[in-house]
Amino acid sequence: MIKIAIIGTGNMVGGHVNNYKDLRGVKVVAGVDLDATRAADFCEKHDIPHAFSSIKELLASCDFDAASVVTPDAFHVPCALPLIKAGKHVLCEKPIAPDAKEGKKLVTAAKKAGIINMINFSYRNASCLQKANQLVTAGKLGNIRHFEAHYLQCWLSSPVWGDWKTNPNWLWRLSTKHGSQGVLGDVGVHIADLTCFAANDTVKTINGHLKTFDKAKNNRIGEYPLDANDSAFMRIELENGGTGTISASRWASGQINSLALCLYGDKGGLRLDLDKSDSELEVCIGTDLKKAQWKTLKCKKTPSIYHRFIKSIKTGKNDQPDFEHGWKIQKILDACITSNKQKKTLRVR
Ligand SMILES: NC(=O)c1ccc[n+]([C@@H]2O[C@H](COP(=O)([O-])OP(=O)(O)OC[C@H]3O[C@@H](n4cnc5c(N)ncnc54)[C@H](O)[C@@H]3O)[C@@H](O)[C@H]2O)c1
Repeated sequence: MIKIAIIGTGNMVGGHVNNYKDLRGVKVVAGVDLDATRAADFCEKHDIPHAFSSIKELLASCDFDAASVVTPDAFHVPCALPLIKAGKHVLCEKPIAPDAKEGKKLVTAAKKAGIINMINFSYRNASCLQKANQLVTAGKLGNIRHFEAHYLQCWLSSPVWGDWKTNPNWLWRLSTKHGSQGVLGDVGVHIADLTCFAANDTVKTINGHLKTFDKAKNNRIGEYPLDANDSAFMRIELENGGTGTISASRWASGQINSLALCLYGDKGGLRLDLDKSDSELEVCIGTDLKKAQWKTLKCKKTPSIYHRFIKSIKTGKNDQPDFEHGWKIQKILDACITSNKQKKTLRVR
């Protein structure tokens, strides 16, 4: 039995606990949250034996093998470090940290401790994305030449996800003081990972543009200065030469959670739209390219990151995306922020 502790019992914790429940030989044994009541309510709801309000208490009095870190972005590193030092395997939420320098601490600590480590780039659970990666890796699209990708949400203009003006769970996402890198760090990180994974490539250069709109009196609500970016644009060249754009926004009125990618090579193209389906992929490859005809591929279910995290623990073989990969994606975000400030194209190193 692999025993799991979950740190941070807010909005996203449901994804973790419900996925672990579906896996045989896995038991969530503890929930930890700075808000002791929230931790206790969560543990009661899911029949989890131990609730704590600090990692120190958890480490002192609970027997467990691995942890999910599901705290706000600013707390990923401070929460994961003591767990890693205690020899626990860690599945950490994205982004790895507020910047790459901070994220590197997790990469180094995980290597030193020899623990299994993964970053929850959850859209990798979509079988159409796994299929896209396989097709590109097998050369079915030829050399990648062009791509367009977006991740669009509307929670700043619509109450579909709740009222961000009164809810700390949304307000921390709008404030750099609270460790947020805005829409870029929140969901831009997902679409950057998705694009690189589908293209089986990494980013060489980036030209970034970020925009923050005034959203309240003095652009502040209580302790939250609303200074984090709302819209992000990345003009990118990949290491293998393909060029394209990635954008993300919280102002895409009418779009609840829309991720899409079009990827074109010199032998074919593919389109995925997770709003429509996470198991269907449109392709124009092989002889279909002559008539520019598109076909829909039905993609078989693939194992989730939670499943692969547990399998990695059992086999001792660390699957992807690991901390090092999370750190590399973080370097793209950092370069986007610097490029926006300096108004020039930068090499991602
Ligand atoms: N992979 C995905 O698809 C996905 C989706 C949503 C959110 N996320 C990520 O999950 C993380 C959490 O997001 P959320 O929406 O659940 O946030 P949230 O604000 O709803 O919940 C965070 C919880 O963490 C607790 N917390 C804060 N600091 C803590 C600490 N030091 N120790 C223990 N608990 C602490 C808070 O009290 C709160 O209950 C973020 O990093 C976010 O980017 C990932």
